[in-house]
Amino acid sequence: MVCLGNICRSPLAEGILDDLSKKNGLNWEVDSAGTGNYHIGEAPHHLSQKVAKLNGIDISQQQCRQFKAADMAYFDRIFVMDHQNLIDVKRISGHSFNEGKTSLILSVLNSPDADEVPDPWYGTEKDYHHVFTLLTKACEKIIEPYLR
Ligand code: 4NP
Repeated sequence: MVCLGNICRSPLAEGILDDLSKKNGLNWEVDSAGTGNYHIGEAPHHLSQKVAKLNGIDISQQQCRQFKAADMAYFDRIFVMDHQNLIDVKRISGHSFNEGKTSLILSVLNSPDADEVPDPWYGTEKDYHHVFTLLTKACEKIIEPYLR
């Protein structure tokens, strides 16, 4: 799960998919990273933590890290939040970039009116709830083929 800061959106995406995979007995390694380096080592934004907690998910132990080319080879799927994330992931990955495993996360919803998860960095708690709802819908769709 990749966003710009790895402080607002991708920590929520990691928490939601990790929670869903564990609840469904799947042994998935779910991680997140940012294309930027502004917040390395920090915990998620307090409003991401709050909204996750209100939904029964604890993301307080996550630590911000920067996306690296080796992530492109290591992980089976790379989900980005917006078009700029995709440009940055391509740049950072260089020759390792694998188009087939990289997607805008909301593309799984096949919805014509939303293809980016909006950045809530300058927003209010309401914006973080909106991000949580979008990411939950997407993560439920991502895991669906693996449930039985
Ligand atoms: P995120 O939000 O990409 O969802 O983690 C942001 C967090 C921090 C900054 C930008 C976006 N920043 O510029 O510090």
